[in-house]
Amino acid sequence: MSTHFRKDKKFNGFDLKLATEMGALYRSDCKALLAGIKNNSVDCIFADPPFNLGKSYGSRIIIDKMSDMEYLEWTQLWISQCVRILKPGGSLFIYHIPKWLISISNYLSSFENMEFRHWIAIKMKNGFPIKNRLHPVHYGLLYYVKCGKKFKFHVIRYPSPVCRHCGELIRDYGGYLKKYRTNENSIPLIQIADVWDDVNPNIHNKNRPKSINELPSTIPERVIRMATNKGDIVLDPFAGGGSTLSMAESNERYWIGCELGATVYAQNRILKEAKATKSAIPPQRIQKIFR
Ligand SMILES: C[S@@+](CC[C@H](N)C(=O)[O-])C[C@H]1O[C@@H](n2cnc3c(N)ncnc32)[C@H](O)[C@@H]1O
Repeated sequence: MSTHFRKDKKFNGFDLKLATEMGALYRSDCKALLAGIKNNSVDCIFADPPFNLGKSYGSRIIIDKMSDMEYLEWTQLWISQCVRILKPGGSLFIYHIPKWLISISNYLSSFENMEFRHWIAIKMKNGFPIKNRLHPVHYGLLYYVKCGKKFKFHVIRYPSPVCRHCGELIRDYGGYLKKYRTNENSIPLIQIADVWDDVNPNIHNKNRPKSINELPSTIPERVIRMATNKGDIVLDPFAGGGSTLSMAESNERYWIGCELGATVYAQNRILKEAKATKSAIPPQRIQKIFR
């Protein structure tokens, strides 16, 4: 383990911003980084791209307002690379708003080797009513697997919701209740469904600008625990504040992150929250997947 880390070092042809014993974070356009990775080499990809809503990501090179046509072309480009680099049996998760997930899903289903698994609805805590529309209250998380090998799937459980006034269970689990409890009085641990309404937004930290648009770590952590094993490789092409990468690190998965804007927030999060140790070079497992 080395702590002699030099800033702005090129590795595998890309600007290496952080390396630990489990992963590497590069500053790059994801199109270029994905193109530099070998076919069939990554176990899981979690992508939370810019939504083309004109948001500022704190960098002038990131334009989040293209025409619908341009945005779709751009989206298909990075997705086709994700499909190429995913291992058979690997899982691809794309977090977006329903309007775009419909086109994305159509595109993914056009690949013979990609199989739809789920559309997970994730409740928004901060959606506002829009004139002449239904009030949007969910994001979607598309879940596809690459055919050719058995995919990994682990059941995730979480504590059943209870009434905040009386503490009683909100739902009746019938005969399953016994199965879900570890002892007679314990809160049942229920199996995760395809609606996630228990995901709380991150409490905004004054030292982290809103422009990095971080997801609550529960989302990537569930994905990682559900679809990968320890030692697998997880890739996030839009690393942002590092929620996926820090969860991969703390759950003992190898990881690769790519971010075109500032990477300092992701670096700090991985080092602080995941208690990672800097390394001089990316792990061998990560180095090997570059062309
Ligand atoms: C919605 S945020 C991702 C947030 C991340 N999931 C998190 O929880 O911290 C999208 C990120 O993609 C980055 N980005 C935009 N275009 C990019 C590109 N072409 N290549 C790589 N990153 C890009 C933005 O700077 C932004 O940080």
